[in-house]
Amino acid sequence: MERPTYKSITGIKNLSRGNIEYILDLAEKLEPIIQGSSDLQPLKGKTLCTFFYEPSTRTRLSFESAMWALGGRVISMADAQKTSSVWKGETLDDTIRTIENYCNIIALRHFEAGAAEAADRISRVPIINAGDGPNEHPTQTLLDMLTIRREKGTLDDLRVVLCGDLKHTRSTNSLTLGMSNFRNVEFTFVRPKGFETSQWILDLVKERGCRYTESEDLQESLIGADVVYMCRIQKERFDDPAAFDAIDGKYCLTREMLEKSPKTAAVLHHLPRVKELDVSVDDYPGCAYFRQTYNGVLVRAALMTMLLDKVPAEYGM
Ligand code: CP
Repeated sequence: MERPTYKSITGIKNLSRGNIEYILDLAEKLEPIIQGSSDLQPLKGKTLCTFFYEPSTRTRLSFESAMWALGGRVISMADAQKTSSVWKGETLDDTIRTIENYCNIIALRHFEAGAAEAADRISRVPIINAGDGPNEHPTQTLLDMLTIRREKGTLDDLRVVLCGDLKHTRSTNSLTLGMSNFRNVEFTFVRPKGFETSQWILDLVKERGCRYTESEDLQESLIGADVVYMCRIQKERFDDPAAFDAIDGKYCLTREMLEKSPKTAAVLHHLPRVKELDVSVDDYPGCAYFRQTYNGVLVRAALMTMLLDKVPAEYGM
């Protein structure tokens, strides 16, 4: 366990195994506060600004729910492109230079890869990347990893299947980077041809000593899987509607497919689901995607508490 010393959280790629374990352990410690069974208010007097250029249900609301539970306050811009001065042409730099005066920490969702890093370079307050285009979604990954640890009891020695539009999905990029820090993790990337995970991520996975295979066959890949992570085809990232139509509906995970494997897999999805995850999986014993959304509150609480340097002394961390 090793406390990260970064001012901001802009990606998973810079976090070590020890850093990730620290954040997940802190998330577990904060659970009594989130549940209302502890009177601690570590973020009393602090203000979070959620500033989102893209739509969101889970990420924005779980950040806000966590901040209220920790005793802090929230200001929020849910649709920045339409209802903030971004609509009048204000740049990201000027927006950050403005909103840093109104808050102590910013959760930023943006449509461009690298936006969170750019914001971090000019901001006086910590920036948390709440998703930057098709690049990274580090808070999603940390809640995914907390979910996997809670469901499987470990983050080592797992066979992880990721399935869907792996070219455009920031959650699977970050999850692959995060899990590659752990021992004896084997990945199977199931995707239509042309929708592969970026080569630099695959190279890093190999460099870190993890094995991976690529496949187009979901049913075959499910056999013996410990974790199955489904993701939707990212319609908003396609310029050509015909290219989207060509792969829309290619994969749909059902309970029947999962039951052909001798192991019960933990099934995760960053949500929202569209066609790739059938409702028959909702009562499969390994279904974890709604517990996953709950874990988002814990992880985002941990990140804000850590970055604002307000970890309660009684936690001894
Ligand atoms: N998983 C996720 O990022 O969901 P939202 O887009 O609803 O925040």
